[in-house]
Amino acid sequence: MVGQTIAPRLIELGHKVIMGTRNPEETKGRTNPNQMTGVSFAHWYKDHPDIKLVTLPQVAQGADLVINATSGTATLEVLKQVGKENLAGKVLLDIANPLDFSKGMPPTLSVCNTDSLGEQVQANFPQTKVVKSLNTMNATIMIHPELVPGDHNVFVSGNHPEAKQLVTDLLKSFGWKEVNIIDLGDISSARGTEMLLPIWLRLWGTLGHANYNFHIQRKK
Ligand SMILES: NC(=O)c1ccc[n+]([C@@H]2O[C@H](COP(=O)([O-])OP(=O)(O)OC[C@H]3O[C@@H](n4cnc5c(N)ncnc54)[C@H](OP(=O)(O)O)[C@@H]3O)[C@@H](O)[C@H]2O)c1
Repeated sequence: MVGQTIAPRLIELGHKVIMGTRNPEETKGRTNPNQMTGVSFAHWYKDHPDIKLVTLPQVAQGADLVINATSGTATLEVLKQVGKENLAGKVLLDIANPLDFSKGMPPTLSVCNTDSLGEQVQANFPQTKVVKSLNTMNATIMIHPELVPGDHNVFVSGNHPEAKQLVTDLLKSFGWKEVNIIDLGDISSARGTEMLLPIWLRLWGTLGHANYNFHIQRKK
């Protein structure tokens, strides 16, 4: 869902996009409807001829920016398949949340409190510049923040200032106002944003839709 939402927006903004999947041929043949849009991947893919689907080891080759939009419990394994050497020196925007659905709804966090998925990715891929962002909102709001009226926030966490700058510039191109982009500090601050997920999920159930976001109101 996140990949299919962000990819066309990136194309619209003039970027070249390739998407990785475990088995491109199997994925291209998926006819089950997407939970959010009702459109199958097979149909969506035909409608987006400018987006190329490739295997995981191929996805980061030659990329200026890699976006991780995989299930949190599979993220480390997926990135291993993408390849340490292919990710070395690159900026990785990590949108994944460590949600464990194995015991049903609501999911639990597979890592929390003293660690986070963002930190685990950074620790396992020390030559990659990991930036955690956009994980605290619904995919459509990530790329069109104006869908939620007024000011509301997106958080950025990471150890590498230049990588955070690249991601911040991307966020601005999506429509995020600079004042609403909050740099939380190093990658350990991803603990905080990943641990927002339980309240985010509760709000989804209570409000009955996903078109909301967090807003940090500051004293003037
Ligand atoms: N949906 C949202 O609005 C939203 C918002 C904020 C954050 N997030 C986070 O973003 C991530 C993606 O969410 P999504 O809703 O886009 O999920 P999704 O549609 O279920 O996509 C998950 C992706 O993870 C891969 N995957 C799942 N299990 C795997 C496994 N065992 N091994 C290897 N790859 C596996 C799948 O790859 P294949 O293509 O190979 O099947 C799929 O492309 C999640 O971590 C989620 O918490 C989502």
